[in-house]
Amino acid sequence: MEDLKRLERSLLSRARRAKTTQDVADLRAEFLGKKGPLGQALRGLGELPPEERPKLGERVNALKAKLEAALDEAKTRVEQAERTLQLAQGAQDVTLPSRRVVPGLPHPLRLVERSIIDAMAGLGFTVAEGPLVEHDWYNFEALNFPPDHPARDAQDTFFIDDKVLLRTHTSNVQIRTMLKTKPPVRILAPGMVFRHDEIDATHTPCFHQVEGLWVDEKVTFADLKGVLHRLAASLFGPETRVRFRPSFFPFTEPSAEMDVSCVICGGTGGEGKCRVCKGTGWLEILGAGMVDPAVLEAVGYDPDRVQGFAFGMGVERIAMLRWGIEDIRLVYENDVRFLEQFSARVRT
Ligand code: DAH
Repeated sequence: MEDLKRLERSLLSRARRAKTTQDVADLRAEFLGKKGPLGQALRGLGELPPEERPKLGERVNALKAKLEAALDEAKTRVEQAERTLQLAQGAQDVTLPSRRVVPGLPHPLRLVERSIIDAMAGLGFTVAEGPLVEHDWYNFEALNFPPDHPARDAQDTFFIDDKVLLRTHTSNVQIRTMLKTKPPVRILAPGMVFRHDEIDATHTPCFHQVEGLWVDEKVTFADLKGVLHRLAASLFGPETRVRFRPSFFPFTEPSAEMDVSCVICGGTGGEGKCRVCKGTGWLEILGAGMVDPAVLEAVGYDPDRVQGFAFGMGVERIAMLRWGIEDIRLVYENDVRFLEQFSARVRT
């Protein structure tokens, strides 16, 4: 019994002095292993008189439980100390809760672009792209802009040199697509365009357009009207009415501008007081027309065999009308509190 007490004191004090998890593991093997002091004590039971055996056996088991508890405690203590040390040395605390992951959302301009593409995909239009830095020929010349056309002036166009510029519209993609494909052609060209404009509530020097082009043997102005009415209805609702006004673009003949019935007053003009349509009941949303034969010739198409229509629309303008955004600059300031209003957030 005396021996056991001494043994207990010495083992417990060694457990208290353990410094590393390895120390604790070593002590556990030493104390509780078959060849350890407890095993020896149990083996010694056989030499005792039978009446003393149960008492001593009990003591040995109690000591075993004490040692186990002491080693568990030592383990927790050294683990905590080791972790504190690791953290102090710059290790990461993997037990901390993670930061909330905020998933990205499509930008409102992207949403509009997508809904235009979605509306037209069912009619067989596919997406085509072209360069933002463009040669004068694709941006102007092949689109039948005469050399002295005012739109080429430095006021409207960012020139990089005499012949290279930032594209002023996505119509360059018409030319590039027709040059590399034979008719029929049915494309949408979304993308960024640039103009030398002062920034205000409705202008930014960089904005977005979607261009459309359909050229085939029998595409007529009636197709233009039908397709664009359908596009307007899918962007602004099935009740939307459209009207076409004569207009001018160098690359179309005849040319038209399409208005939609006002999204705010429903086309009534609000007794002349609707602020959005200025009481007219109509909003201009795009330019269009039958592709000018000179453009078809420029890309090597035979204007006696094929014809078609084209249109171009501003993405910012559609977004502003659709959501009642009064200042275009909001769309570019990248304040997420503004931007996240336009698509349903999907939380993870
Ligand atoms: N390119 C014109 C612009 O930027 C928009 C446009 C009008 C495109 C008529 C067309 C079209 O394809 O037929 O103002």
